[in-house]
Amino acid sequence: MDPACSTKRRRVGDPGAQRADRPGTKFPEVMIFVRESKMGSSRRAMISALAREKGFGVADSFSTSVTHVVAERNQPKDVWIWLKKVSAKCGLEVLPEVLDISWLTDCMESGCRLPVEDRHRLKDESEEEVCTKSPSIPIYACQRKTPVNHLNHHFTCALEALAEGAEFSESDGRALAFRRAASVLKSLPFRVAKIEQLRGVPCLGKHSIRIIQELLDLGACKEVEQIRSNEMNKVMKVFMSVWGVGLKTATRWYRDGLRSLSEVRASPSVKLTRMQQAGFEYYRDLARPVSHVEADTITAAIRALLPNSFITITGGFRRGKDAGHDVDLLLTHPDEGGEVGLLSKLLEHLNEQGSVMFQDYRDNTYKETNAAGFNESKSTMDRFERCFTILRLPLSPRVTSHKDDKVTGRQEVNEAVTSHYTTNLRKKIPEPGERAVRVDFVVCPYSQYAFALLGWTGSQQFERDLRRYASHEKAMILSSHHLFDKQQNTFLHANTEEGIFTHLGLPYLEPSYRNAILCHDCQANGNE
Ligand code: UTP
Ligand code: MN
Repeated sequence: MDPACSTKRRRVGDPGAQRADRPGTKFPEVMIFVRESKMGSSRRAMISALAREKGFGVADSFSTSVTHVVAERNQPKDVWIWLKKVSAKCGLEVLPEVLDISWLTDCMESGCRLPVEDRHRLKDESEEEVCTKSPSIPIYACQRKTPVNHLNHHFTCALEALAEGAEFSESDGRALAFRRAASVLKSLPFRVAKIEQLRGVPCLGKHSIRIIQELLDLGACKEVEQIRSNEMNKVMKVFMSVWGVGLKTATRWYRDGLRSLSEVRASPSVKLTRMQQAGFEYYRDLARPVSHVEADTITAAIRALLPNSFITITGGFRRGKDAGHDVDLLLTHPDEGGEVGLLSKLLEHLNEQGSVMFQDYRDNTYKETNAAGFNESKSTMDRFERCFTILRLPLSPRVTSHKDDKVTGRQEVNEAVTSHYTTNLRKKIPEPGERAVRVDFVVCPYSQYAFALLGWTGSQQFERDLRRYASHEKAMILSSHHLFDKQQNTFLHANTEEGIFTHLGLPYLEPSYRNAILCHDCQANGNE
């Protein structure tokens, strides 16, 4: 058995932590984990000791700081299954290199860190459709222009249906491969009419090509139709349409024999979270797309409540989408530190005017973990202060029964609303002419504004590729808080998104070209 994924925080701050833990380490940017299975514990111990002697950092247990996994005589498939499991546990999205032991022995022989060559890599065979390099179209979504309106919906919706089906059956590698294929098709400046046009286009594996070919020949694809009519997939989609319900919950409900939302509601064994309760309560309103006009109106109203702050609309609307499932607002203040208390003040105002139907407040955890930030920064979750809300539109002043409450601190606001929510639900139901809208508020210090803006603009697939690009091509770690250069062992500062692109050596990509994946793409186009 391998040691379980270690989430233990390192004692000393930041990137130097690994070095500080291992004074003899010559290569601070490398942390090796030797996979024991098949090798045996004594050989593993011997190799680890040798590598340490040569100045390489070797981790005893797998954690987010591992950069290279090496294995000997293992089936690549087994290593990948294990790696995906432990990475998911650690919340790690950018996976380490997975290499044959020969890379490490070559490194030890030459006494330096050798570049990883393709022959060293243990390939993830579940990712059938591996991105291959092409001279004309780059492999990373952050290097391609992907507008909202592209020309290949017919194909991308089919591939995304397959991706979703793969996700529901927990085949993450396949899901990602289909998403990458869809994403590259979205960036093509022409409508695919013949399969030959796709020669040299990266990220299209045999499976995706087969699907596209069938769609070209017959106008429909059997496999896609089967996925779309599959009972489990249909039920999972319905479950996940409830706010707060993700893959895990939906799968559990399905496994428990539940098949509809009314069965879920009637089931005595189902325990809903507060967010899911609100998801059911406002189901109809939340299923209705938020329009651009509504989003702009909300943004203007929030700006009026916080006149000295910067309020930026992010998410899909910043990328030029006409409609979205929520409104994402980033709050900051031109003076560093001036952002502290902004959100509680805003929530207080909104609660006073009776606009808040639901709120889930999370405090900033970045400061606390900053000292261990290097470890944590590979996770995609950011640590900003935030509040997931459901607001009542229009955002007009309205007096609530809590008007006289002396709510001052954030905690009190949260508690007041929580108890109000549970004891006085009826007052929280939108009246005729009103509607409930999901609004997410995120607060960042001004020094992190560019990173937060870049991170919260999305799309998810763009962000994923940008981080992958930073890590694999530049040996940098990008998060919504910072950019860390592993070779220079330093944080790179930026005041604008352009500055971040420059650090990464990438041409600036306008938000309107970052639509590598639209979360609700097919539904919005009525294609599903
Ligand atoms: P959304 O889920 O709102 O996606 O997250 P979207 O692209 O705006 O799509 P619609 O239009 O609402 O359906 C917005 C972006 O915020 C980032 C993600 O990168 C996502 O692309 N995000 C979201 C985070 O960085 N952290 C989070 O916890 C949530
Ligand atoms: Mn959004």
